Amino acid sequence: MRHVIDKRVPAHPVPVIRIRRLTKSYGHGDATVHALRGPDDPATGGPAGVDLDIEQGDYVAVMGSSGSGKSTLMNILGCLDVPTSGRYLLDGVDVGHLDEQQLSLVRNRKIGFVFQSFNLIPRTTALAQVELPLAYAGVRASERRRRAMAALSLVGLAERAGHKPNELSGGQQQRVAVARALVTAPAMLLADEPTGNLDSRSTEEVLALIDGLNATGRTVVLITHEDEVARHAKRVLRLVDGQIVDDVRQAPVDGPPPFLYETHEAYGAGVRA
Ligand SMILES: Nc1ncnc2c1ncn2[C@@H]1O[C@H](COP(=O)(O)OP(=O)(O)OP(=O)(O)O)[C@@H](O)[C@H]1O
Ligand SMILES: [Mg+2]
Repeated sequence: MRHVIDKRVPAHPVPVIRIRRLTKSYGHGDATVHALRGPDDPATGGPAGVDLDIEQGDYVAVMGSSGSGKSTLMNILGCLDVPTSGRYLLDGVDVGHLDEQQLSLVRNRKIGFVFQSFNLIPRTTALAQVELPLAYAGVRASERRRRAMAALSLVGLAERAGHKPNELSGGQQQRVAVARALVTAPAMLLADEPTGNLDSRSTEEVLALIDGLNATGRTVVLITHEDEVARHAKRVLRLVDGQIVDDVRQAPVDGPPPFLYETHEAYGAGVRA
């Protein structure tokens, strides 16, 4: 389903993401690592869990030092992992009540993922990579091709559709990964350090794409270590030891992302490359 932000309507929708008292721990006994814990619960002395709401159309950067729980949070938001306790409602649906088949449907239809390491398939053309999520969704071949080409055009890589990962630069590979993430028209894009392996110019190209996806109504949650990247977001969360310690709004949810104009120029440069 596509969502278009109508600026005439005040923004008070049901949050696309609602998490309550969410914890994730690994290991047992003294060796337990509380990857997500929230503040201490005064009643029990144990972790109270993390509470977080993210509205449709928001653009959220998640920051924090290594090991603070960013990827753990992202993997739960993306239904790639399950919490130890607490609730996660995605579009109002309690994800904890879904079975494995329903979860894979949610992942395929609602969420696009982009990872630091691109996660492309070796020896496979850009076009075939981008078609893959559509194949899983049961879209027929001609329609797959048409939509995959449209997604590659959007990221400025129509000309490179026949190229394999080893024939593309890092920035181009990540743009293929973005095309693959958006080809199913998901309402939400989750990106775990999408620019972590890119030089500054490729970083700008990829951020320009993500800015544009948010500007057309997609909810974006992006993990980053870099202030320069976080400046593109409308809201910045900071995690320390599995707890959200800072939550700063940089731009309104229902407006454009803060860097849309400049990054469009950078994107143009990317398209010409
Ligand atoms: N599968 C696992 N088994 C045991 N511990 C884990 C596992 N995954 C993560 N952890 C621990 O949970 C904590 C949070 O890890 P997480 O990957 O979420 O950190 P991060 O903020 O993404 O760090 P980075 O910036 O290095 O990617 C860390 O202490 C990590 O060692
Ligand atoms: Mg991580």
